[in-house]
Amino acid sequence: MTIERTLILCKPDAVSRGLVGEIVARLERRGYVIAAMKMLQLDGDRARAHYAEHAGKPFFGDLVAFITTGPLVAMAVEGENAIEGCRQIIGATNPLSAAPGSIRGDLAQTIGRNLVHGSDGKDSAERELKIFFGANEFVSRRHDLERWIKD
Ligand code: RTP
Ligand code: MG
Repeated sequence: MTIERTLILCKPDAVSRGLVGEIVARLERRGYVIAAMKMLQLDGDRARAHYAEHAGKPFFGDLVAFITTGPLVAMAVEGENAIEGCRQIIGATNPLSAAPGSIRGDLAQTIGRNLVHGSDGKDSAERELKIFFGANEFVSRRHDLERWIKD
């Protein structure tokens, strides 16, 4: 088994549209488990740190402005290959290219309001989780996971 932990954000548009439950339900139905969860509003410094890889790109200013506009829900999600699996559930960055059945393909219209963030690799997951959670904020869900997944 390759159990991974990834950072998922229900961005401010998801909170504002009342879609947090829908997003959590889609992740849980796949069998992924939540190991930490909180609602918070990011300040500019934390937003820039989270999206540091995009600093200097033309959309960076809008991205930071939007992600700080209101509360978001941050989650540490665990499961077998959870990083790639959650990205699959979330769908392509531009909702127009996202497959029907994915969160963005079903629920979003534009790239700048695409509802969810998911870490895109092991290194980014580790880095991003530290921005949102302290080491003592995670609960162990390993027992639940091991009951329901098997190679
Ligand atoms: P995320 O980081 O939010 O999970 O999204 P992603 O991996 O699918 O896409 P990424 O390339 O990391 O971009 C981060 C967010 O920036 C906004 N974006 N706008 N206007 C544009 O060309 C553009 N490109 C990216 C999106 O909101 C995207 O989710
Ligand atoms: Mg990304």
